Formats: sequence, structure tokens, C-alpha cells
Amino acid sequence: MSNTSRFEQSLKQAQKEALLKIEQTSELEGLEQIRIKYLGRKGIITSLLKSLKDFPEKERPALGKLSNQIKKQVEEVLLRKTKQLKNGEIARRGEEQFFDYTLPGRKGWEGRLHPLTQINEKIVEIFYGMGFEVARGPDVETDYYNFSALNFPPDHPARDMQDTFYVKDDLLLRTHTSPVQIRVFEKRKPPVRIIAPGRCYRNEAINARSFCTFLQVEGFYVDTDVTFADLKGVLSAFVWELFGRDVALRFRASFFPFTEPSAEVDISCVICGGKGCSVCKHRGWLEILGAGMIDPEVFGAVGYDPEIYSGYAFGMGVDRIAMLKYQIDDIRLFYENDLKFLRQF
Ligand code: PHE
Repeated sequence: MSNTSRFEQSLKQAQKEALLKIEQTSELEGLEQIRIKYLGRKGIITSLLKSLKDFPEKERPALGKLSNQIKKQVEEVLLRKTKQLKNGEIARRGEEQFFDYTLPGRKGWEGRLHPLTQINEKIVEIFYGMGFEVARGPDVETDYYNFSALNFPPDHPARDMQDTFYVKDDLLLRTHTSPVQIRVFEKRKPPVRIIAPGRCYRNEAINARSFCTFLQVEGFYVDTDVTFADLKGVLSAFVWELFGRDVALRFRASFFPFTEPSAEVDISCVICGGKGCSVCKHRGWLEILGAGMIDPEVFGAVGYDPEIYSGYAFGMGVDRIAMLKYQIDDIRLFYENDLKFLRQF
């Protein structure tokens, strides 16, 4: 065999081997070894090219061309495979990142009931457990249900106690839940034992202790022989259930047009236990509700015979009770809907 054909054979052999090895390699490291073995400074193909100078001048061009073609082809295939493996690597790392189970999870927030809703439901539930039925009335009321039927005379100063939002002449946003008493009495005969939660509105200066809207829970019971002692009993049971048995109650004489006698009910301060602190303004007592025996005038308006029936009524502010229960010193927090606040309940 001539030197020329031996050279050609070695070259093609090296080409075949190199291409096969590249094909079979799946590691970048392996590809680099192949490059060194065939195309490195002392590589097989490089050495063959170097040996060209030993051939007669007239054979060199043809052999040179072939050698360069093969060298170029192996280089190209090597480069393509290198890119392919690198891309695979990147994709694989991408997947690893996407499925990195060791990363801490992102916290999702659960929804929950507004603190006022929670307390409102709790209050209603306690009375429901004592045999009260739930009733509701409209937020937009007439003057009749909100005032007249509840024995507020047209120019009685009692109307001034409640700064009212008027929708138009005779329509207003209810200032308390007491109109539900009238609506129930109109439809039902005694005995009636009702708990009526609802939103109320007053055109008051807004500050830490009062807001233009608030929740009230009205309660009332009408039957034969209902006494003030029954009222005391039911309110005591309620307070002890909500705030604990250690809390004391105090009934102070007061005035409402629709109850006689009337009382305001205080509980011993749930913060300091009655010793005196900033929440109870060092009085030791906190006012939580208004109550009384339903005035015979109210019965007259709905056709109940005051000679046969008697009843009590009470109304409490849910916002105020929630403030005491959660120790919140600014009522406005309930209406700002700041999630940092709401998420605490
Ligand atoms: N409606 C009164 C108020 O809003 C509270 C109350 C209700 C008082 C029932 C007595 C009886 O202040």
C-alpha cells in the first residue's frame, strides 16, 4: 500500500472513530477528551495534518484538501454536540429550579369573618340558646317606626339624642334597632321573645369612641307577668357567658322614651377587674347596654293590652362589646378594613 493511501486510510479511520465517539458521548467532559485526542496539539488528526509536509509536493494539495475537510467536519460535529449538551444542561437546571421542593412555600391567606361579625354571631348565639328567635328589620326606616311608635313625641328633646341621617322627609337610616320591636309586635301576638341584630346609623362626630355607623343587638320579651327581675336574670346570664363569671353587673336608672323604668347596664371593667384603668377611665365600670320595661304607650301603638302584657327590652352596641372583648381602643379600626388589623382575628 502506498504512503498516500495509508495516509488516507488513517485519516478516514480517525474521522470514523471521532464521529462515533462524539455520537456516543453524553457528557461535556467526554467531548473535551475527544477534542484533545483528535484535534488537540498532539491529536491524531492534527498529527496527520502535520505529516503532510513529508509527502511529495504534487500529492499535497489533494491530501491537504481532504484532511482539512475532515478536520472541519469533526470540529463542526463536536461544536454542535457541545451546544446540544449545554442546552440540555440549562433546561435540566431550569426544571430543577422549578421543582425545588426544598424552597419554603409561599403563604396563602385564608378568609375569615370580620371581628364584628364574629362578636355579633356570638351574642345572637347566646340569646338563641336562651330561647330567643332571630328577627330583622330594614336599615332604611320611616319616622314612625324609628321614633313615633316608640313614643318619641315630635318635638321631644329625646330626638336630639340621636343625630339622624335623613333620606327624605319621612325616610331615615335607623338610629337604633328598636324599630324592630314595633315591626314584630304588629305582626305577632305575645308571647314574643326576639333577638334582632342590625346596622344603625347616626350623624355623629367621628372619633375613637363613636362612628357614623355601628351594629346593635336588640332583645325583647313580651308575655304575661314579665318583670324587671327577668330582665336582670337574662342579661346577667348573657354577660357571664360572654365575659366570664367573674364580671359584675350594675343597673343604673336612666331614661328612654320607649321603656319605663329604664336602666343603663354597666359591667365591671374587663381589663382591670374594677380597680380602675385607662379603658374604664378609672371608674371601674363600663357601660354596655340600655334596657328597661317596655312603656305602655308602645303597647298602645301596636294594640297590645298593657293590662294583660308586660315586657322588657334591651339594646347593646356590638362594636363597643367587640372593643372590650378584643381590647381595641379605636372603633374606627373596624371600618378601615386594613388587612394587618383584620388578620389578627
Ligand atoms: N335603642 C336604645 C339606644 O339605641 C337602646 C335601648 C333598647 C334601650 C331597648 C332600652 C330598650 O340607645
